[in-house]
Amino acid sequence: MQNITLSNSVQMPILGFGTFQIAPQDTEHLVSTAIQAGYRHIDTAQSYQNECEVGLAIKNSGIARDEFFITTKVWISNYTDCKASVLRSLDRMGLDYLDLVLLHQPFGDTYSAWRDLEHLYNDGKIRAIGVSNFTPAFAVALGAGNQVMPMVNQIEVNPFYQRFDEVEKLQTNDIVVQAWASFAEGKNDIFNNPVLVQIAQKYGKTPAQVISRWLVQRNIVALVKSSRLERMQENLAIFDFELTADDNAKIATLDLGKSLIFDHSNPEIAKFLMNYKVDV
Ligand SMILES: NC(=O)c1ccc[n+]([C@@H]2O[C@H](COP(=O)([O-])OP(=O)(O)OC[C@H]3O[C@@H](n4cnc5c(N)ncnc54)[C@H](OP(=O)(O)O)[C@@H]3O)[C@@H](O)[C@H]2O)c1
Repeated sequence: MQNITLSNSVQMPILGFGTFQIAPQDTEHLVSTAIQAGYRHIDTAQSYQNECEVGLAIKNSGIARDEFFITTKVWISNYTDCKASVLRSLDRMGLDYLDLVLLHQPFGDTYSAWRDLEHLYNDGKIRAIGVSNFTPAFAVALGAGNQVMPMVNQIEVNPFYQRFDEVEKLQTNDIVVQAWASFAEGKNDIFNNPVLVQIAQKYGKTPAQVISRWLVQRNIVALVKSSRLERMQENLAIFDFELTADDNAKIATLDLGKSLIFDHSNPEIAKFLMNYKVDV
C-alpha cells in the first residue's frame, strides 16, 4: 500500500476503508472482512455509532496496533467538551491512541474543540489532527489562530465534484486532502458512467478502480466503503495501472461543480447539522 506523508511526518495509507452507514451490528464483521482483504486504514466517527465495533475488529484481528491507521471524528455537539469526548472514543474503541482525529463539521465551537485536539496531540493520545468539510481558508485560519495547523481536511471529492481549486489551496498549505464519497455514494449511476466505463475497459479495470486511481494520482486519500468482500478487494487493486493526461481530461468533463450529497454552504444544511445530536 502506498503511503502519504502528513506535515508532521506521520505516514498514512493513501486508501482507507470507510464505515459510514454501516450499522453497529454489521460493523465488526465488515471491518474484519476489510482487514482480511488488506485494508489497514479505517475511518469511523462518533456520529456513525460504530466506534466500539471498529475497535473490536481491530483487537480481534491479531494484527499489531501499529500496522493500523485509525481515524475518528468528533461530532459538533461534543465540541464544547471535545477532550472528554475523544477520551470516551478511545475507551469505546479499546485503543491507547488514535492515528487521526478530525473535527467533523465546520460549525459550532470549533476553536475550543481545536485547542482540545492540540492538547491531546501534544500528550501523544493522537498522532495527527485535522478537520472535515472546512473551506481552505477556515482550515488555515484555525491553525494560524492556534498552535497546530490541521494536517488533514476530509472533504467530498469525486468525479462529479472535483474541487481542483480547493484541493490545490489545501495541498499548497501542507494539508492532506482525504476524499469522502469517493464514489459519490453511487449517485448518478456513477459505476455505469460511459466515460469511466470506457477508460476502465482500456486497462481491464472497473469504473470504481478508475475513480480511486484518479484520486490517488491527485495525491488525495481515497476513502471507500463496501459491504461486499469482492468489491473491497476490487477497490484495493489500483496500484498496477496509471491514468494518462488524456484520461484525466476526459474525467474532468464529468465535473458538475457541486455536491450531490451535502452542500455545506447551504444554511438549511448548517441548521440541520447543528441540530443533529449524537449521544456518545
Ligand atoms: N467527513 C464526512 O463528512 C463524511 C461524509 C460521508 C462519508 N465519509 C467517509 O467516507 C467514506 C466513503 O464514503 P461513503 O461511504 O459515503 O460512500 P462511497 O464510498 O462513495 O460509496 C459507497 C457505495 O458504493 C458502493 N460500492 C463500493 N464499491 C463498489 C464497487 N467496486 N462497485 C460498485 N459499487 C461499489 C457501495 O455499495 P456496497 O456497500 O453494496 O458494496 C456503497 O453503496 C465513508 O464510509 C466515511 O468513512 C465522511
